[in-house]
Amino acid sequence: MRARLVAGNWKMHGSLATNRALLEALVAGVRGVECAVCVPFPYLAQAAERLRGTAIAWGAQNVSEFAQGAYTGEVSTAMLADLGCRYVLVGHSERRQLYGETDAQAAAKFAAAQGAGLRPIFCVGETLAERDAGRTEEVVARQLDAVLAHSKFGDAVLAYEPVWAIGTGRTATPQQAQEVHGFLRMRVGAATRILYGGSVKAQNAAAIFAMPDVDGGLIGGASLVAQDFLAICAAAQAKG
Ligand code: PGA
Repeated sequence: MRARLVAGNWKMHGSLATNRALLEALVAGVRGVECAVCVPFPYLAQAAERLRGTAIAWGAQNVSEFAQGAYTGEVSTAMLADLGCRYVLVGHSERRQLYGETDAQAAAKFAAAQGAGLRPIFCVGETLAERDAGRTEEVVARQLDAVLAHSKFGDAVLAYEPVWAIGTGRTATPQQAQEVHGFLRMRVGAATRILYGGSVKAQNAAAIFAMPDVDGGLIGGASLVAQDFLAICAAAQAKG
């Protein structure tokens, strides 16, 4: 049985003071479900410090595909591992769309992260135009196969995040999510956790998590509000 995971993606939000309050609330409130927060680089040490010895894991939102060297502004997998980081988001659609990350680059980051002992949370998802053109499976297969050509999934996590559902308030229906998760499941096998992401809220989480191939969520906006994130964690726990 796959253990459910709820991962928060804080994106470029937060401050020492607001993070402190949020982390306190999560430490006090998360029970009975695996949970992680992916925080901005400058706050990794703060997360490490506060979450040490708790059940909440933490991670980064991006990482370099290169081991070290003259890559100004980049952060290596070894640095994340050095801090004790467990997770790292790889191939998030905002990285792909806003920063031009390619499938090959995302696959290289995935391999580098695994090589350093980190667990990638690898994101795939189609745009609205791609969905409307009936290309959803082709797109997510292409993104995933770039990784599978070089790496085994191992204990990495897969996240299906339809681009049209991210930050838009327009979530995929549970059936739409299950269709794609079922398709991805055939490629990664029964042991890999597949999270759904894209406008997951306290109100819709339980219905999405009830789908057989949805093993939890990757939560953006709602992960910044302790009460909302805790409600989503409770919905994941309720499933099993
Ligand atoms: P959202 O973001 O929950 O705000 O839609 C999800 C994500 O981008 O990981």
